[in-house]
Amino acid sequence: MADKSEKTVLRNEYRPPDWFASETNIEFDLLPESTRVKTEILFRRNREIADPKSLHLDGKELNLLWASINGVNLDDEITKDAENGLTVPSELLPKNEFKWRAETEINPQQNTSLDGLYMSNGMYCTQCEPEGFRRICHFQDRPDVLSKFTVRINSELPVLLSNGNLLENGDGFAVWSDPWPKPSYLFALVAGDLVAVQDNFKTMGGDNVQLRIFVRSGDERKCDYAMDSLKRAMRWDEDNYGRQYDLDQFNIVAVDDFNMGAMENKGLNIFNSKLVLASPETATDVDYERIESVIAHEYFHNWTGNRITCRDWFQLSLKEGLTVFRDRQFSSDQRSADVVRIKDVRNLRANQFKEDAGPLAHPVRPESYRKISNFYTNTIYEKGAELIAVLNQLVGEESFRTAMDLYFERHDGQACTIEDFVKVFEDTTKSDLSQFRLWYSQSGTPHVSFFPEYSGSELRLTIRQETQPTLDQPEKQPLPIPICTALLDDEGNELVSPRVLLLNKWQETFRFEKLPSCPRVSILRGFSAPVILKTTPTDEDALFMLRYDTDNFKRWDASQQLTLKLLCDMVVEQSEPDENIIHALKSLAFDQSVDPAFRALMLQLPPEIEVRQQLADIGHILDPVNFYEVCHEFGNALASAMSDDLVSQFRRLSVGRPYTTDSKSAGPRALRLGLLRLLSKVDTGKEAENLFQSAGNMTEKLGALRALLSIQRGQEQLDEFYDEWSQDRLVLDKWFAIQIVEAPPSHAVELTRQLTRHRDFEWKNPNRFYSVVASFAFANNAGFHSPDGGGYKLLADWIIKVDEVNSQVAARQCTAFESRMMYDKPRQSLMLEEMRRIRRTKKLSSDSAEMLDRLMSAI
Ligand code: BES
Ligand code: ZN
Repeated sequence: MADKSEKTVLRNEYRPPDWFASETNIEFDLLPESTRVKTEILFRRNREIADPKSLHLDGKELNLLWASINGVNLDDEITKDAENGLTVPSELLPKNEFKWRAETEINPQQNTSLDGLYMSNGMYCTQCEPEGFRRICHFQDRPDVLSKFTVRINSELPVLLSNGNLLENGDGFAVWSDPWPKPSYLFALVAGDLVAVQDNFKTMGGDNVQLRIFVRSGDERKCDYAMDSLKRAMRWDEDNYGRQYDLDQFNIVAVDDFNMGAMENKGLNIFNSKLVLASPETATDVDYERIESVIAHEYFHNWTGNRITCRDWFQLSLKEGLTVFRDRQFSSDQRSADVVRIKDVRNLRANQFKEDAGPLAHPVRPESYRKISNFYTNTIYEKGAELIAVLNQLVGEESFRTAMDLYFERHDGQACTIEDFVKVFEDTTKSDLSQFRLWYSQSGTPHVSFFPEYSGSELRLTIRQETQPTLDQPEKQPLPIPICTALLDDEGNELVSPRVLLLNKWQETFRFEKLPSCPRVSILRGFSAPVILKTTPTDEDALFMLRYDTDNFKRWDASQQLTLKLLCDMVVEQSEPDENIIHALKSLAFDQSVDPAFRALMLQLPPEIEVRQQLADIGHILDPVNFYEVCHEFGNALASAMSDDLVSQFRRLSVGRPYTTDSKSAGPRALRLGLLRLLSKVDTGKEAENLFQSAGNMTEKLGALRALLSIQRGQEQLDEFYDEWSQDRLVLDKWFAIQIVEAPPSHAVELTRQLTRHRDFEWKNPNRFYSVVASFAFANNAGFHSPDGGGYKLLADWIIKVDEVNSQVAARQCTAFESRMMYDKPRQSLMLEEMRRIRRTKKLSSDSAEMLDRLMSAI
């Protein structure tokens, strides 16, 4: 039989299931190489469907031992196929309901895909989203089949966990029961020799919830921050959305081998250990920030994802976009909202805009897929979250909350569509949101330009939108774009306070009357919509914004515009860096009145892809090696302009600041390390060496080491770091990554190759693999794109190798070829050659095959 996973799934072909599985009992006899899984499923006919056909149960690499319907054995009659599961013909199916029993055998030890039930350092663990449950037992593995699960685990291991509440716990077994019907992708099981860090949470309704984080013995002290973040997230969801937790227990487990960041399984979240474990000595400020937001994200899924789930995987953004939106709101409340916003926009522009402009472009609600695991994209997540923010602005803060309340009330316990979600907002506001729906169906990023005309105390502001055709959609329509705008005078006073202009045609003119003078237009404040502003400010305008704009996002954006333009000029005209711009950046960096975290962000260069895009617009192809050099030159110029004050400013930032992990303390540290990087260019690394020796926390230790590596020093320190941390896998990941990220282009391929031969390079562990291979392919652009194609070949070799054991990890790496068309012809053909070579590999997974086919369709 043909592999069904090769088939394209279309959104329009959605059919509700013929049968529902109302109750599911599973019993596990855990053994590493032969785990037995007994299922007992109560099937009920879907009464909406006139005459139910055969029953298809998904299954993958399962050894079915026997199966029965209402006690009658089926063995031979059912069609089995190891890749896709089994089909019970309609003749064998009772009319309205029946009990299905079956037993399968699986091999968790041999499961290297980290999908389904697998083992990680002697511990059993699962990952079922999106389609991993079918590797555990035969089931309708689709999100619109909701079932009440009871799970019995038999094993001698001390900790046995599954979803819901613990019913019974005895010698060698545990029984868990989850009262909330859920789809199979939310199933989880963990068994191992683990210890728990415990706490409690009292819900606003007065219920007491036991909170536990399970880790390996010795890691207990690294759970404080995750636990604290969890409690803050629980309280926040009550305060801001009225959402309470709904079980007696909430468990989190940290595992070392995990493809993704974390997973929201009902009552039993499973986390990549790097997103739980943290101590000041081992984790950086960036890690802390990420832990806080991911803990919140997975917790928030309990309502947006679990209580209300997706009807089918085309609706993925219904839970992911909305939950990212919610975790961003949470982070903004916990930290500086401006800084959080700026980081999110930076990330969106660098990754989602690139996706939307390339061969992988797809709408936030896609129309088709081959492997849904390839669609956990920046578009579904980040653009999806932006769309919720757009909706929030269209309906207003108050209606937004009212509509969310209605969403939870109306759809609790259901598997929903994005359409259901939008409908709730229409019903709440009694307005027509059909144009807003286009945001979900149309791919590509709208380009917005504006043309102010001032005469006789009136400003006529014409705003235009345009969306370029994408590979998947040649025709585009105008979208409703909320454009937050203010008018400022030359001192930055607001002549017209910020307001949202709604652009819902291709072009529209907005009027502002009775203005005392020609105003400055501050447009797209707070990045009020996911669009590209094509009207770029003059240097004079940007310098004004940088100093006077009343919106911090705009100030940051001005700094990016200035640097972007300067870098482009340096590339094209081989000119010296513009002194005015250097001077402006310098005064900002030293401006004590500005939030240090914000200043640190301004010192960061715009992502290379933005420079590449900007130059492509004027017909110039950026050479990555040249860009690397230009960035260095720019850094040198900035450093020497600042050199008189760098040391004093650097030192002053540490005075009287005890180390704490909160954002108030992290901001100055980020700035300090930004300055240190510049300082190293003029003091040959003296301060960095001192800091490396004296630092008592990982943020500064790593920052100092990076600064040294960036000026091609620090070999000794690198060795010292290794000796100190080689037993801590998360820290060792950092050790691998920074060397590669900081390697000069001519050395990067060789260094990466060397590190893949290092005795600690465990390539089957995703974290370790990413810290070496992904750091090279995604964070050392000049090295990866080395002109002889050595970088492409290295990546291709590793994709081929890892594809055999873990296809999801392999497929993700393929996106390193995403921007192929933006490089010169010789590089394009070298990339194409390597992609073809991977594609020709015998037994290449369908995950990687789909990615390559889509990537190669770019012309
Ligand atoms: N539901 C996802 C986990 C997931 C991702 C399962 C991909 C299957 C495939 C989870 O809620 C999630 O989104 N995790 C993110 C982190 C999050 C904070 C954006 C992840 O794992 O990267
Ligand atoms: Zn999620």
